[in-house]
Amino acid sequence: MNVLVIGRGGREHALAWKLRQDGHDVFVAPGNLNMDGVTCVPIEETDVTALVRFAETEDIDWTIVGPESALMAGVVDAFNASGRRIFGPTKAAALLEGSKAFAKEIMREANIPTADYETFTEAEAALAYIESIGAPLVVKADGLAAGKGVTVALSLDEARAAIHDIFTTDKFGDQSRVVIEEFLDGEEFSLMAFVSGEHVIPMITSQDHKRAFDGDKGPNTGGMGAYSPMPHLEEAVYVESVERVLVPLARAMVERGTPFEGFLYAGLILTENGPKVIEFNARFGDPETEVILPNLASPLLDVIEAVVAKRPYAIEWLDGYTIGVVVAAAGYPERATTGQVLSDFERLPKDVLVFHAGTTRDGSHIIGNGGRLFVITSTKPTLLEAKTAVYAGLEMLDLPQTFYRRDIGGRALARIF
Ligand code: AMP
Ligand code: GLY
Repeated sequence: MNVLVIGRGGREHALAWKLRQDGHDVFVAPGNLNMDGVTCVPIEETDVTALVRFAETEDIDWTIVGPESALMAGVVDAFNASGRRIFGPTKAAALLEGSKAFAKEIMREANIPTADYETFTEAEAALAYIESIGAPLVVKADGLAAGKGVTVALSLDEARAAIHDIFTTDKFGDQSRVVIEEFLDGEEFSLMAFVSGEHVIPMITSQDHKRAFDGDKGPNTGGMGAYSPMPHLEEAVYVESVERVLVPLARAMVERGTPFEGFLYAGLILTENGPKVIEFNARFGDPETEVILPNLASPLLDVIEAVVAKRPYAIEWLDGYTIGVVVAAAGYPERATTGQVLSDFERLPKDVLVFHAGTTRDGSHIIGNGGRLFVITSTKPTLLEAKTAVYAGLEMLDLPQTFYRRDIGGRALARIF
């Protein structure tokens, strides 16, 4: 089939890689010049009209959406109107990610476990509220902020500063609402699923590492590395997460008249009282995609076609584990250095994969062009072997003005040994 992937990051590179493994011809809009074996199409993710026109003229059989920006631009609505097959939520359903207040409301309605919260449109009311509940608490800008609009405030001073930033600076973009949330304590994990209406096909678990530096220090980022599945997560917790979170959410979206179709992402935290939702994303996670797809044995479009047709499907996963480490530009997430020459990729052995994100190409050189540059992954029978292969691969590369975490997968490995 001819398949179009919308986006340009590591997630889209992993989707394109999987689709190529499955034997398809893959186009990526706009893609990245370092994605090999695919045709890059110079159309922006949000240029909905041009994307539909391209799919029609090139006779694209399936389109898969990566980033939330394309969803919020209404790409799925436009494809649906033109009768072209696309896998992703409509703009109305993508609000699950686009607005934290909407997500909270639907969780309250569907009785899905999450942190207690209040929403405010004025700084004074938010400030009065935090005085009444005390620290620790979490302050979230309502709206897309690339995972950076969240402050886990251990003191009231930190919380006050975050509220000030949201209402009076444009640090988090144009924000007019804030969600104040109860602080949840526990281990975080991600659970994603293929969803269409009430039909849910869950994937294996994964765990992202959101802080910039080793030992979960430093600022929150879009994600510095991940592994999948989580060996130490009990089956009962997995089942509870599917039954108490994913299934009721899918049902609630149908009942609201905004059925969800696409990759659904639940960011969860395992508290003393069971798993609770931190956030939903209306798309595949990044870098979670890069560590989940190498373990997916079933052809991707088979799963998608089954879920869309509401057919039961016995999804198959490899037995092993995948670890992915993000290499980021020095200065990320505040001010990423760009223009560095990244080299020696040809030295990498076959058992590691590289998924490009914020890189570009100049002749034969790979050049840094963003915050998170690429993800390097390995899939092995054990987590330890996968971790060893990834870090051995990293040692072979010449990566000036970059950094990466050295403890990806460490939490799971500490539990096993
Ligand atoms: P979010 O953008 O909502 O995923 O939040 C980013 C990160 O902030 C999460 O991955 C958590 O580490 C942390 N966080 C968000 N909400 C809470 C909460 N209610 N309790 C504790 N930590 C949280
Ligand atoms: N890795 C977190 C996200 O994709 O939002």
